[in-house]
Amino acid sequence: MRDRRTLILNFKNYSEALGAKSLELSRAAERVSSVVDVEIVVAPPTPMIGAVASAVNNRVFSQKADLGVVGQSTGALIPESIKAAGAAGSLLNHSEARVPPPGLSTLVTRLKSVGLEVCLCAQTPREVKKLAALSTEYLAVEPPELIGGGVAVSRARPELIEDCVRVARSAAYRGRILCGAGIVDGEDVRMAVKLGVDGVLVSSSVVKAMNWDGKITELALALQASRNP
Ligand code: G3P
Repeated sequence: MRDRRTLILNFKNYSEALGAKSLELSRAAERVSSVVDVEIVVAPPTPMIGAVASAVNNRVFSQKADLGVVGQSTGALIPESIKAAGAAGSLLNHSEARVPPPGLSTLVTRLKSVGLEVCLCAQTPREVKKLAALSTEYLAVEPPELIGGGVAVSRARPELIEDCVRVARSAAYRGRILCGAGIVDGEDVRMAVKLGVDGVLVSSSVVKAMNWDGKITELALALQASRNP
């Protein structure tokens, strides 16, 4: 299991994935999952978490989580509600949904306590070092300036990935390390894995693709081919 590669698809709030389109995109991910030996996690827009979780076998992650009480709190995306909707985990501290440090470890503890996995996002090796101590299942490195730009982190900032992997492993981090930002094709994925990551976190190149099955297959096959024997 440890050696299985991971592809997390963050749908964000792109118009191509809103409402019922989230279901179609998730079904494309499910079709690819049935033929490629790679874990494909889907992270649909918040209002679609429950519908997607009921519709596909893939694990579903929330795009964020909030601190808020069970009971009298309005609008907060609390861990208990994410869990009750059928999700398996949550992205946390994404560059587009940063969590101020004091709340971060509290949120991680609470997500874990309800049985949710966490993919914690970091921007720099320094942040990776701090966040590695929270021992989440996934740690994702994403330089914010490359997000959504179509130039892969693995091509533009290879040293960043290597530094983050080194820092995380020397902090005894045992989860899976992912990278994301600008990943567009299979070669971007192959380069990322060579730099030491266990998988990738991807959004626009998949969500905006004309052929969802084809693009997800391309990225997943690159991950599958890069597995250790
Ligand atoms: O969460 C993934 C994301 O931030 C990367 O986005 O569009 O560069 O693949 P994108």
